[in-house]
Amino acid sequence: IKKILAAEDGGKGLIGQKISVCGWVKTVREAEKGKLCFVQLNDGSVPLDIQVVIHSEAKGFDTLKGKVGTGASMKCIGQIVESPGRGQAVELSVKDSGEVILFGGVDAKDYPLSKKGHSHEFLRSIAHLRPRSNLIGCVARVRAALAQATHEFFRSNGFLYVHTPLITAADCEGAGEMFQVTTMMAEAEKDGKPLPMVNGKFDYSKDFFQKPAFLTVSGQLSVENYCCSLSKVYTFGPTFRAENSHTSRHLAEFWMIEPELAFADIFDDMNIAEDYLKYCVSYAMTHNRADLDFFEDKIEKGLIKRLENLLAEPFARLTYTEAIDILIKESPKAGFGVPVEWGMDLGSEHERYLAEKVYKKPVILYNYPKDIKAFYMRLNEDNRTVAAMDVLAPAIGEVIGGSQREERLDVLDRRITEMGLEPKDYWWYRDLRRFGSVPHSGFGLGFERLIMLTTGVENIRDVIPYPRYPGHAEF
Ligand code: 4AD
Ligand code: MG
Repeated sequence: IKKILAAEDGGKGLIGQKISVCGWVKTVREAEKGKLCFVQLNDGSVPLDIQVVIHSEAKGFDTLKGKVGTGASMKCIGQIVESPGRGQAVELSVKDSGEVILFGGVDAKDYPLSKKGHSHEFLRSIAHLRPRSNLIGCVARVRAALAQATHEFFRSNGFLYVHTPLITAADCEGAGEMFQVTTMMAEAEKDGKPLPMVNGKFDYSKDFFQKPAFLTVSGQLSVENYCCSLSKVYTFGPTFRAENSHTSRHLAEFWMIEPELAFADIFDDMNIAEDYLKYCVSYAMTHNRADLDFFEDKIEKGLIKRLENLLAEPFARLTYTEAIDILIKESPKAGFGVPVEWGMDLGSEHERYLAEKVYKKPVILYNYPKDIKAFYMRLNEDNRTVAAMDVLAPAIGEVIGGSQREERLDVLDRRITEMGLEPKDYWWYRDLRRFGSVPHSGFGLGFERLIMLTTGVENIRDVIPYPRYPGHAEF
């Protein structure tokens, strides 16, 4: 259907050709006392439906009766003809030399999707069928394109794709938001055996990994090891956070792209982050124009303009301290829910104010207070800030978080201890600072937040096929 309807001439070049299309019915209408059947068919290749006009003399016509409602699947073999209707240049005409084959019928009264739009909340409750909606179809295509853009960007810039583990004992962010992985609980439940305990505590030595193991919150520490051998690397995979967030920007399972560069400082890091983000947006503008037009029409008026602006100018860059000064000055006007002071972790209201109201474009903030950032970030000369950087985008807030890494073993150990963590738990990470340590930097881009930015979709639960959040692990 894409080949026909998304062609430059709207498919006119195919007029007269015999063509077969397969797909799912969006709508169906009978005309001329049941002698004609108009079907709008979609196959997921574009957010457009092809009109199929089935005449009663076509082979298979009689099998459609009562079965071909919205959601039915079929194959139609006919001829491309000029369409007399408005809105499309051509349609498929199925007459006596043509044929229709019904694969799977639908009982219209049971099918949850109808032609009229549905709320995004309702669509979430039918995550198995929602890819049939235009919204989720468009999101799925843009999502796949952005993944492709990611690999193209890093590959063409000399980065090596490294797979990092999903099960790990290390808490990269040190925030204690990890999902634990254990087999003992299930075994105990199944066999009715008590859990193994020593001194009133669960005995991990009897468990699968023989120590506490978790789903990773970030591939960073593992990818850093590879960076410190192979220079330019990135990982791209699912990450997990057991934060009990019910916001439109947080998921318990989300995908992250994490590049890591050796011999690079925080400014090199910002340059790559900005280039990468722009590459992705530009890629979607070129390869997914029909999808973006759908979002412009149905989700965010002005989306295309916003994306063009994002590409047109360099992102704003300022330090956390400069940003705090600005936010304090703006506070009376902005009326923030949480008052602004140096040392605070910025909320999304502050981040968005900077990007939307002050700069009207993405902003890179850097040199954050050390107390609100992770242990691995490089301590600055002032001893109170670290070489961290976040990219904040209009409508979303933080899309990227990154930093120059602490490459000095003594400082790293101090920071690990200060944060209440154990240096011995990070022995392998510390080794990199003992053997040929180098300055290096990296960042993590939340893939779903990139999709929100590119599509204008407002809830993160609608840009991942099967969103995971408190109470939701079905499908
Ligand atoms: O800022 P974060 O926590 O940084 C890290 O994990 C670093 N280890 C990355 C690195 O330097 N390699 O997360 C990075 C990004 C955020 O900017 C945000 O876009 C996204 O991941 N993110 C989430 N996205 C969806 N749901 C959540 N719960 C998220 N938490 C973070
Ligand atoms: Mg962050």
